[in-house]
Amino acid sequence: MDSFLIQGGHRLKGTIEISGSKNSALPIMAATLMAEGKCTLKGVPRLMDVDSMTRLLGKLGCRVFRHEPTNPGTLVGPALNGDLDIEVQEEIQNEAEYEIVKTMRASICVLGPLLAKRGKAVVSLPGGCTIGDRPVDLHVRGLRKLGAEFRIENGNIVGEVRGRLKGCQMFLGGALGPTVLGTINVMCAAALAEGETILVGAACEPEVSDCAAMLNKMGARIKGQGTPEIRIEGVEKLVGTEHRVIPDRIECGTFMIAAAITNGELELKHCNLDHLIAVTDRLEEVGVRIERQNGNVFVTAARRINPVEMTTQPYPGFPTDLQAQLMALLGLADGISVITERIFPDRFLHVGELNRMGGKIRKEGPTAIIQGVRELQGAHVMASDLRASAALVLAGLVAKGTTRIDRVYHIDRGYEKIEQKLAAVGARIERVKEEKSASVSMSAVA
Ligand code: EPZ
Repeated sequence: MDSFLIQGGHRLKGTIEISGSKNSALPIMAATLMAEGKCTLKGVPRLMDVDSMTRLLGKLGCRVFRHEPTNPGTLVGPALNGDLDIEVQEEIQNEAEYEIVKTMRASICVLGPLLAKRGKAVVSLPGGCTIGDRPVDLHVRGLRKLGAEFRIENGNIVGEVRGRLKGCQMFLGGALGPTVLGTINVMCAAALAEGETILVGAACEPEVSDCAAMLNKMGARIKGQGTPEIRIEGVEKLVGTEHRVIPDRIECGTFMIAAAITNGELELKHCNLDHLIAVTDRLEEVGVRIERQNGNVFVTAARRINPVEMTTQPYPGFPTDLQAQLMALLGLADGISVITERIFPDRFLHVGELNRMGGKIRKEGPTAIIQGVRELQGAHVMASDLRASAALVLAGLVAKGTTRIDRVYHIDRGYEKIEQKLAAVGARIERVKEEKSASVSMSAVA
């Protein structure tokens, strides 16, 4: 369990390359289970979750091969990552075991592809996690409507299909709105079903559209992705193809906030600002300047920021995956801000840690009331989930003194080389390896 030591108070200035999207890459990797022949994925980030998905696909009979980087001289960014080839070699093992599922909930993405292609899937039930209760009932409901039969056996979801799945019209929304991975699971399965499927109440996230684009290249007939109604005309087979995953909008938003919180100046390359309209709106409201130039984005913030209200919502609303990072920024605003979390109402583990750094944040149900302070102080804090960890890194960049963040494996799940990217633009951040981190002095990077 590595730690980060961050010496705060250094303005960030320079260029950062945004990596390919984790949340696009994972379901797309799972979708390759349905292809006959080789799929080549470009821009897949090197992350712990991608390694977990690679292991899972290996257990499900795929050969997964990462090519050497095309530009080994590049420090970080998509050019450093070689293409990822995935090819199904045998279809005997259909089980996603608890050992992998417990490390990565996105393992649920193999459910739809396995059922559609192999007629059987056994996926360990994911259970709750630090951001709250995360049921998969909508995934199961949608796949059941397509004709799959399910039972729970020893903590596993066991799904089976007699013959071929059959397309139908269905509503896929739940009490908390649409489901991203549920939409992708059902869309994948429907791609190989007999007849037409109409998904009403579908998630509109760019990651859903990216997966649909990849499936269409594989031979699927999907329309309406990116809207709440997706129409899928089932086909008999899907074939291998080549696809580049979209840039990671959450990583991009995190670095936009890093520029803002340090009153810095960052140029962000390989990003798509169209996927971040609600984020841009809130950041401009607090006084951050965001400009597009030649496909890149420049983010600057020259003064103390204004407070705002923000509610997380399904896309195109403000993403829950940037809620913690925005809270770190608003913790330093000139006044009181209010954040309401509508996707995962318990996703507030960062509040206590930010308060340990001198923040004044009070939680009331799904809402946090943030009294901006002039200064945060470095402290010894603990990462609890991926995005909460990112919020602590952001707070550490600006806090007075040294911040030590333990358990950074959470951040390694979803941010590619974050400490190298930040150090390259002026942050004082150091990774302390597990054996060393037990004895390291807090003044090590001072
Ligand atoms: C995806 O999770 C992302 N994960 C999450 O990112 C992200 O926070 C989330 O979408 C929302 O945008 C990946 O893409 C790998 P949901 P997902 O199903 O699809 C409820 C990160 O930090 N729900 O859209 O699992 C659910 O509890 C991660 O990168 C049901 O009730 O989320 C939540 O309240 C964390 N029943 C809401 O729907 C279900 O069957 C939306 O969840 C499924 C979901």
